[in-house]
Amino acid sequence: MSLKGCFTPAGDKSVSHRIALFSLLAQGSTVVTNYSPGEDCHSSLKAVERLGCAVSKNPDGTISITGAGGIVTKQAEIDCGNSGTTIRLLMGILSSLEGSFTLDGDKYLRKRPMQRIATPLEKMGAQITTTDGNAPIKITGGKLSGTEYELPVASAQLKSAVLLAGLNASSPTTVIEPVKSRDHTELMLKSFGAAIKSEPGRITVEPSALSLPKDFYVPGDPSSAAFFLCAATMIKDSEVTARGILLNPTRALFIDVLKRMGADVTINKRGDVPEPWGDITVRYNGRLKACTITAEEVPSLVDEIPILTLVAALAEGESVFHNVGELRIKETDRLVAVRNELGKMGACIYIDDHDDDCKLVISDVEELCAPEELDSYGDHRMAMTLRLALLIAGAECEIEEEECVAVSYPAFHEDLKKLLG
Ligand code: S3P
Repeated sequence: MSLKGCFTPAGDKSVSHRIALFSLLAQGSTVVTNYSPGEDCHSSLKAVERLGCAVSKNPDGTISITGAGGIVTKQAEIDCGNSGTTIRLLMGILSSLEGSFTLDGDKYLRKRPMQRIATPLEKMGAQITTTDGNAPIKITGGKLSGTEYELPVASAQLKSAVLLAGLNASSPTTVIEPVKSRDHTELMLKSFGAAIKSEPGRITVEPSALSLPKDFYVPGDPSSAAFFLCAATMIKDSEVTARGILLNPTRALFIDVLKRMGADVTINKRGDVPEPWGDITVRYNGRLKACTITAEEVPSLVDEIPILTLVAALAEGESVFHNVGELRIKETDRLVAVRNELGKMGACIYIDDHDDDCKLVISDVEELCAPEELDSYGDHRMAMTLRLALLIAGAECEIEEEECVAVSYPAFHEDLKKLLG
């Protein structure tokens, strides 16, 4: 058994969310090619449609969106499904627009912290009522004033919510970032006409109008590509190429980590618009060594930690991933999920959170064994990690709620079948 051939993951989830959600504030119309077909991005499209953007699917698979220019439906209840990006970016956008809005989501989203978004927005004058810090959230939108806000954690969703609120505030807004997180919001707002200035650790946005580009291309999702690229480093005789993948450095750091671990990885950059993108090839070479991931690196590979944990479990030596505490509040507590579920297959993973630096310590094992049952905890990235762990172990069992892969990568099983030949 080996993985061989090319695959083309669908459009990037973070970029797809942003082109949809920014349309609420923008004038003009755009035709989006390669919008993510995942359920999360569907939640964003449904939300903006409900709030007043015209959205239509074209026969060639592209999506046309007409912006609402900041004038939205005055009263709306929005179901954000499982999507943290939808609810958090909407909090920023809707706080500054006239109307009353309720934002809610599924049972997993209802457990994720929202007060960290409400706090800086309230400082800008927003009227937000959470349910004990969680969804459902009620927002009465209105006039905001600019602020200077230092992020307590590196989070692109938090940064984006504040910057988006700042677009409609009465004075400039500055966000200070301790560590750089994905920068799609800054790049896209700038290209849509916002007065936004980014310098290391500091981003300032002035009140500005946005206009949508006529056409917008979403490069392939590196966080989806990572699953089969990582799997190819662990499965003998594999050689896979992920085509058309977003190569923004704040997203593609897992490639550097794989290289550091000794994997054979080649990149062929093919374009720069709207952000760098290209093809990534991984050839199995059987030489994986343990690695250290530093605190500064985590935000640029945060979504790849579950699959990198699997790679580390099979690499020679002890790996340490520093400052991974944020993984506790993703779609599930991913630290507990990887420890428990990969642990059922013999992996040796320890969560060390005795000080401020919450670490994952991963010792190597010769091989993985067959578990009796596995649970994805309803988390798409856990489900994909576990499916690949079973493949590597040559084992089969049910993965609880495996269908949640559709949140980000509906074609995951189809692509897996194709690569297995
Ligand atoms: C995202 C930011 C990250 C990431 C999430 C998508 C985004 O979350 O984990 O999958 O699109 O801005 P945080 O902002 O919580 O770090």
